[in-house]
Amino acid sequence: MSSEKYAQSFTFPSGVKVKNRFMMAPMTTKMSFYDGVITSDELRYYYIRSKEAGAIITAAANVSDNGKGWEGELGVSNDLHIPGLAQLASAIQINGTKAILQLYHGGRMTHSSILRGERPVAPSAVKAERPTAEEPRALEEEEIYQIIEDFKAGTIRAIQAGFDGVEIHGANTYLIQQFFSPHSNRRDDIWGGSVENRYRFIDLLVDGIIETVKEEAEEPFLIGYRFSPEEYETPGIRFNETLYLMDQLASKELDYLHMSLGKYNQVSRLEDYQEKSMQEYVYETIDGRVPFVSVGDIRDSKDAKEAIKSSDFLALGRVMLADPHWVGKVLNNKDKWIRQTVSEEEREELVLTNGVWGFMKNMMSDRLK
Ligand SMILES: Cc1cc2nc3c(=O)[nH]c(=O)nc-3n(C[C@H](O)[C@H](O)[C@H](O)COP(=O)(O)O)c2cc1C
Repeated sequence: MSSEKYAQSFTFPSGVKVKNRFMMAPMTTKMSFYDGVITSDELRYYYIRSKEAGAIITAAANVSDNGKGWEGELGVSNDLHIPGLAQLASAIQINGTKAILQLYHGGRMTHSSILRGERPVAPSAVKAERPTAEEPRALEEEEIYQIIEDFKAGTIRAIQAGFDGVEIHGANTYLIQQFFSPHSNRRDDIWGGSVENRYRFIDLLVDGIIETVKEEAEEPFLIGYRFSPEEYETPGIRFNETLYLMDQLASKELDYLHMSLGKYNQVSRLEDYQEKSMQEYVYETIDGRVPFVSVGDIRDSKDAKEAIKSSDFLALGRVMLADPHWVGKVLNNKDKWIRQTVSEEEREELVLTNGVWGFMKNMMSDRLK
């Protein structure tokens, strides 16, 4: 068994204890029923990837009916989702792996065809810079408060379903990030303009979820927050604003902050932040106040040893699609045994349905270069 930092157990501020520092990264499977109820294929997909990692973060689950981003998405917007979510939590918790439900709202990154004719909502009526994007409708103030209530209700359902925690999906251009972004948020009321105003939604949302957990959870229940450090659009979120966000969030009673990146050691696009990777700057800014999770193209123990130098946890995405036993192999110093490619015939055994297979193929062709 490895003696590396990533093999060590850890107790989060909430009291939730994990057996090692590996987490399966949240990955959308597009396997749920039309109404967001989990399918047996999806349960099996998680079940075969559990046991070895400290925690599994689920695919994004939408908290509001108008937050649904795609067909086959997991739902946590209605009590009818609770029985399936309870099965999901149990499938993950085999052998002590902790189950974390990712809470999400798509905002302007969805489409009226997904919302059955309803126009997507966002902080402002500004289209995303994507070919198929639709102009969203700007949220009324009471609707903003209602979405915060929806996230709180999603948290209560996660507690009732037996999860060990929730991750707030503030990354990858979805609604929470849309409030912080000067591209999608052009409001001139208390929710927009200055960085402090653009942060207001996140501030109230996180506090609301923390309060809800205090009131509702009878056992330790963790709260993580995921963010993307910069945007490509102009205007858009810049890395210095993300460091402001980190400073704010690190002073809250959160269990971890999780940076969403394609490559863990990626460097910022801002001239003033070229000396180190974004992960190193963020880790320094947080300064031990809250545990920090890094992610992005960690393929073997060499990458893991490097990435954990400036983080407390490592999240693993595509490697866990190809090899459900990646964590066990790395913990037992058996890198050579990691499955690198998946054939068409092996897809069924690994429950790689169409929703995830495209990503797998991209990753494998990248390796063959
Ligand atoms: C098929 C697939 C689905 C994803 N879905 C989500 C998601 O629902 N929520 C999220 O925060 N990130 C999502 N991601 C991003 C991953 O969590 C992760 O950050 C990314 O894949 C980089 O890690 P990796 O190089 O280890 O795959 C997804 C990635 C993939 C490949």
